[in-house]
Amino acid sequence: MIEPRKTFAIISHPDAGKTTLTEKLLYFGGAIHEAGMVKSRKSARQATSDWMEIERQRGISVTSSVMQFSYSGYHINILDTPGHQDFSEDTYRTLTAADSAVMLIDAAKGVEPQTIKLFEVCRMRNIPIFTFINKMDREARDPLSLLEELEEVLGIRSCPMNWPIGSGMDFQGVYDRNKKNVELFKRHEQNSRRILPVFQDEQSDGEVHSIIGESLFEKLAEDVDLLDIAGDPFDKEKVDKGELTPVFFGSALTNFGVQSFLEYFLELAPAPGPRMSDKGLIEPDHSKFSGFIFKIQANMNPAHRDRIAFLRICSGTFSRGMTVQQVRTGKKIKLSQPQQFLAQERNIVEDAHPGDIIGLFDPGTFVIGDTLCEGNTGFTFGGIPHFSPEIFARVRTKDAMKHKQFHKGVEQLTEEGAVQLFTSTGPGAENSIIGVVGQLQLEVFQYRLRNEYGVEVEIQPLGYELARWIKGNKKPDELNLIQYGGSLLVKDREERPVVLLENEFAERWAKEKNPDVEFVSTSYD
Ligand code: G4P
Repeated sequence: MIEPRKTFAIISHPDAGKTTLTEKLLYFGGAIHEAGMVKSRKSARQATSDWMEIERQRGISVTSSVMQFSYSGYHINILDTPGHQDFSEDTYRTLTAADSAVMLIDAAKGVEPQTIKLFEVCRMRNIPIFTFINKMDREARDPLSLLEELEEVLGIRSCPMNWPIGSGMDFQGVYDRNKKNVELFKRHEQNSRRILPVFQDEQSDGEVHSIIGESLFEKLAEDVDLLDIAGDPFDKEKVDKGELTPVFFGSALTNFGVQSFLEYFLELAPAPGPRMSDKGLIEPDHSKFSGFIFKIQANMNPAHRDRIAFLRICSGTFSRGMTVQQVRTGKKIKLSQPQQFLAQERNIVEDAHPGDIIGLFDPGTFVIGDTLCEGNTGFTFGGIPHFSPEIFARVRTKDAMKHKQFHKGVEQLTEEGAVQLFTSTGPGAENSIIGVVGQLQLEVFQYRLRNEYGVEVEIQPLGYELARWIKGNKKPDELNLIQYGGSLLVKDREERPVVLLENEFAERWAKEKNPDVEFVSTSYD
């Protein structure tokens, strides 16, 4: 029997604990054996970060991979969403391949900027979002105010599945609202769980009372009543639509609450569902294999110019060596060396199923959004949107003799999705403008032009932060926009009009002055 799949991404702001949580999850899956052993974890991390630095100099983001493991009869695929300096369009694109997301929040900090951006992408797809509020072993903000923030900042209702008892030095554990028990926190006894029933009879109440103390017990009883009366009830349908997020409190570092989170998550998170194509919904049990490419990662090693294209399987069964059709070109391609990933290790995969991610050797054949199908089924999955870049720069070659290579390089890297390309319509239109969402993406672009096309480029940063695709009947030059550098009209690669804006203020201004025009932050090819 094929193990049911759960394919998800963890979204968070840097330092919220994504690496730590991922390690604990891998540990439960038996994929690693060192979770909880802080020392070895630290040394392991040291090694990883050294390696990352080397890779960074070579211009590649290595952390962007897929981790897979089995737990309790499920096959789990965690899609890593690169953060820190690695933040790039890949981070967003990866979310298009996930069936759900785990939103990790630092209990002392609440909702942070990167979380908001990633949340918005999940929201676009209406995928279920599970919240893990981390670092309860440290001083934390009031749990109710954290839930309020989810609603106010992200606009999502929440339903706490468990409830913390104290925080920081006073942290005693969490109360499971469904099972009516408490899981006790033992600072120095990680990986062992002590669970006691509560609010069921006097005897069990007495035991919990004596352990957590009078005031925390009373506070817990009050909180639980309040949540029952005033909180949103659990509603699976709303969770499935991404309208309500189940919330769990815990501490990844001390491995507290992670296992029960994982168990609830596996029960509630969706299995791979149908995906929209131009011929209607394609169900995962559709007899023919199909999937789409959501990310292409270049290999910076000059000895290996190949790339890896990441494919999410949507239907049918993949088996090694099968021949598929690339729908865009009609080409038949034999997939002989597909890879699956566990952190940095890559294994050749023999077969794979809907929800799984495989890495395909790519000598330059694939583009982001490509659909691959078995036989001549000929449908195409909806494309992967372009997200508004946040950094814009004019680029030109330093060497006038290398125009041709420069244009070829820019064209190919744009096609691959490494950067977005815009051209300005006004004076100075000879310059190309590129847009990226992270600084590293820009460095990679520069590096690859030099190494793969032999072109040194000059990069002149522009002071814009947003790109908005213009929809409506007005001609772009009839728009009422802030003059003198507040905005710039450009075209994207498909010749669609786009306005680059300095900031959100400029965007609001543009919207107010042009009420009959829509300013859209994502676009589809
Ligand atoms: P990230 O991938 O989201 O960037 O976060 P990462 O897991 O690297 O965690 C960031 C820091 O937060 C790390 O500390 C980590 O140990 C700590 N941390 C993660 N989860 C918890 C938690 O539940 N409780 C507490 N108290 N700390 C947590 P660091 O000092 O930056 O790194 P390290 O030296 O401990 O490895």
